[in-house]
Parts: sequence; structure tokens; C-alpha cells
Amino acid sequence: MVKSTVSISKKWWKEQIIYQIYPRSFLDSDGDGIGDLKGIIEKLDYIKSLGVTAVWINPIYSSPNDDNGYDISNYRGIMEEFGSMEDFDTMIEGFHQRGIKFVMDLVVNHSSDEHEWFKQARCSRHNLYRDYYHWWPAEKGKPNFRFSFFDERGDAWKYDAPTDAYYLHYFSAKQPDLNWENPELRQEIYDTMRFWADKGVDGFRLDAFQYISKDQSFPCFPEGYQNNVVDVIKYHGMGPTLHDHTRELYEEVLSKYDVFAVSEGAGSTFEDAHSLVDEDRNELQMVYHFEAVQIGDGIENPHNLADFKQVHSKWDKAFREKGWLSIFLANHDEPRMVSRFGNDSDEFRAVSAKMLNTFLLTMRGTPYCYFGDELGMKNIYFEDISEYKDIAAINGYKKALSEGKDMQKFMQNLKFYSRDNSRTPMQWNDSENAGFSTGSPWISVNKDYSWVNVEVQEKSSESVLNHFRAMTKLRTENDILVYGKYDLLEADNSEIYAYTRTLDDQSWLVVLSFVDTDTMFKLANSLQHYEVLANNYSELSHEGETIKLKPYQAVVLSAIV
Ligand code: GLC
Repeated sequence: MVKSTVSISKKWWKEQIIYQIYPRSFLDSDGDGIGDLKGIIEKLDYIKSLGVTAVWINPIYSSPNDDNGYDISNYRGIMEEFGSMEDFDTMIEGFHQRGIKFVMDLVVNHSSDEHEWFKQARCSRHNLYRDYYHWWPAEKGKPNFRFSFFDERGDAWKYDAPTDAYYLHYFSAKQPDLNWENPELRQEIYDTMRFWADKGVDGFRLDAFQYISKDQSFPCFPEGYQNNVVDVIKYHGMGPTLHDHTRELYEEVLSKYDVFAVSEGAGSTFEDAHSLVDEDRNELQMVYHFEAVQIGDGIENPHNLADFKQVHSKWDKAFREKGWLSIFLANHDEPRMVSRFGNDSDEFRAVSAKMLNTFLLTMRGTPYCYFGDELGMKNIYFEDISEYKDIAAINGYKKALSEGKDMQKFMQNLKFYSRDNSRTPMQWNDSENAGFSTGSPWISVNKDYSWVNVEVQEKSSESVLNHFRAMTKLRTENDILVYGKYDLLEADNSEIYAYTRTLDDQSWLVVLSFVDTDTMFKLANSLQHYEVLANNYSELSHEGETIKLKPYQAVVLSAIV
């Protein structure tokens, strides 16, 4: 037996299984078509029953909703559509009573243009809040190009007539970037964080954190700059003061509470990622990178298993001894997990969703499980631009049109990769609107809800839902799945993803088939030398040392010592 030589420090936040709720789409308690906090409160027992140990909820602060809550107009208020502060207090107490930690989404790279700070800042160049944002006086000419993710023209500078200046917005024009170089602004942010930590929040997900520090001179990008993921991050974010600010944030807030912070984005190199989360640096605790969800991010770049294995393995290797990663296959910015990495046909949807949940819950790193993936919910596949709700889709469409792009291709891409695919309402039962709302849902409900829903799956021990529960139980009860060393097997196998997890004298083997046909895998010993700990089929056939896997079969075996 190979002994694990790596000793990673134990921390409660490494041991969590995080369930992500998109509140707008979870459960609508008052019939306005929009999910709300009372809806979440109604489902606390359901959430507990999943075996998850923490919940992250997308922003619930006051917001004009240009980007569904990622444009905040008051960091200490609750969005009207979602309820009240009293509801928030009841909700967090409900989670804590059930032993579930609560993670707040904190959006502090930018605010809403309807935030009081920005309203004041744009009035006069001498306003007290002017310096909370980034401005470029028009008399200096047009500022150098900066890219905006959601702008109709892709331009992050917007001219603002009242003060004859441009302001910076990496996201939509209604999401002006905050200026972290201003110490008062930073103190406002720390105060806000303490406000929520005092209310009992156990963690913060720091939205777009890699972008908070920018080169203030906004120089021209060098020749050869490309608008790809690496260059966008390198030249727009990870600026020179990032670590000073992060250390200050740690000292002012994180070190004072038993909380953790996870950064959305990890820079563009392993060094960048480590610089944010290595434990001896006292900055952040966890990071998530995007490389694994860039595999299969367009119709010309479909998912392939070789890259999937390679990317997950190389990140694990880089974080084997230091730092800590998150593992996720979907979230509110990505298509549905089963549609992208599995097979969402009627025949294989359930089994491939179970296989992917097996991956998520047996991998090293803290798993983030997106609501609805415990049922195997799939993409909605909108056909027409009028069906989309997401600003990224709508403004992306306008931009593509104005640039004379091939619109048929654009629409095909959007259909598969739009963020709206994962934002459709939770499917609770087969009543109207999947039991999500008695009103008219803010976004269409997936038509498959009459057979893909919680109520149906509760009744079957073989459902995706009950498989998910078995997997969360296995992870929670076995440290090996959290701290065990990860080693990839058969890197070149084009049908199977297999790896071991090893802790002390224990060794587990995870074998996942990624194909819709039967396939085989050779064990080191015959099957009698293993205990089958998880299986998404009722049987595992074998012959000697070879196990014969059914389409998308996923098994977890423990070597008997
Ligand atoms: C993050 C969020 C995304 C949002 C953007 C701007 O990437 O996950 O949903 O649109 O930041 O806040």
C-alpha cells in the first residue's frame, strides 16, 4: 500500500460540501414569479436532506437587477423582490439550526450605478465620493482600450456628460468599477463585511476579485494583446496592489472571525493562484479557477475527456501541498453540468448526471454543487433571442450584430453556452411551473419538469437525487475524500477517468465512464479485493481483474487491506 506523504492542514472550510442557490430561481413564496428568501426558508429541510454542509447564495442585496443582483445599490439592504432583513435573519438562523454554514456573495469589484456613492460621484469632480470610482477626464482624450464583458460595444469606458469624463466598467455600464486604491472605500467594504459577519455569515464568495487592483495609469496594451482569457485577466486584473489590499482585508475582517473567503478567479498562472491562497500568506482561503469550464466552451470547442482529465490533474498537482481549490462543474454563469460534460439525452441524462456528481464529490478540493444538478436538470436550449433574460446574452447579441458576425453561429453557441441555461427555475414537482411559482416565472421553466423533479425523484431509491445524497454521505463520513492524495490513472484512456485517493494506509479508486457504450477497466487485483462503496448502476460486472462498465457507469472502490 502506498502511504500518503502529503500532509495538508485540516480546516473546517476544506471539509464543506457547498450547495449553490440561485435565489431568483429556487422557490417563489409570494407569486410574483421571482424566487425569494421565504422560498428558501420553506426548503431548509430539503437542503439539509441533501447532505450538503454549507450554502452559497448569489447576491441578495438591494439591486436594480441589471445583472440579477451583481449590481448592488445598497450593501446592507435586502433586494425587495427577495424579502426583508427579517427574512434574512430567519433564513440564516434556519441554516445554522440545521448545522449548515452560510456563504454570502460579495460583489466589490463594482457597485450599481444606482448606489448612492456613484450617484454622488458622477455629480461633480470634487464630490467626496468621486474617488470611489475610476474616472478619465475627457480633456485628456479618449482613454486607452479596456475590455468590458457585458458592454454592447465591448468598451469598458463610458462617457458621462455631467462631469465630462469617462468612468470604467468591466461589466455592464450599470456596474461601475470601484476604486480599491481609495482607503476610505476599502474601509467601507471591510465595514460591510463585518456587518454581515456579525450577522453570522460563515464565508464570503468574492465576486470578480482578481480584478480589484488595476494599473491606475491605464496604459496602452502591448502589441500582441489578445482578447482571450489569459490576456484579459493579465492586463485588466491582478494589479500591483492586489496583495496589499488582500492582506489588509484579512487583517481587518477575515482574521477577526471564524470565516473563510473564496475568490472568484485565480489570475492567469498557478503563481497568481498560489499568491492568493497559500496558507502562510494570510490572505484568502480558497480560490476557483475557470480552466476546467473552458473545456467545451463553444460549439467549435466541444468537451473532451483528455483535456478534462489533464486540467483537473494539473491544478490538483499544483495545489497538492499548499493552498486549496474549489471544484465545480456548473454555476449560474455556466451551462448545466449534464448538458456540457455528460449526456442529456433521455436515455443517459440520469446516469451521466450521477457519474458527474460522483466526480464532484470524490475529487480533492471543496465541491460546489449547483442547485438542480442533484436532479440532473439540463439546459433549456432557447432558440430565439427574445427568450433570453441575461444581459450577457442580450448585449452580446447586439455586439455580434453590430460587428457583422455570423448570427446563425452566434445563436447556436448561445443556445448551448448561455448562462440562462442554468438559471431556469428549480423543478419541485409536476404541477404548473414545476411548483416554483403560482405566478408567471421570470424565466421559462424547462419543459421536462413533469418527469425531472424532486417529488418524482424522492420516490425512487435509484434517482439522481438519492444517488447525490449517498455521495454526500460518503464524502462527509470519509476524510479520505477530502484530504486524500489524488493520483490520475491511465491518463491516455479516452473513455474512462480513473483516479485514486490515498490517505494513510487507505486507498480508494474512482472509475468513471464518460462514454455511451460499454467499456472496460483493468484493476490491480480481482474485484474480490475491493469493497464497492458507490455505484450508479445496481451491478458491477467483472471478469477477473477487469471490470465491465455500462454507459457512464461510475464506481468508487476501496481496496481491502
Ligand atoms: C461574476 C458573477 C457573474 C456576474 C459578474 C459581474 O463573474 O459570477 O454572474 O455577472 O461577476 O458581477
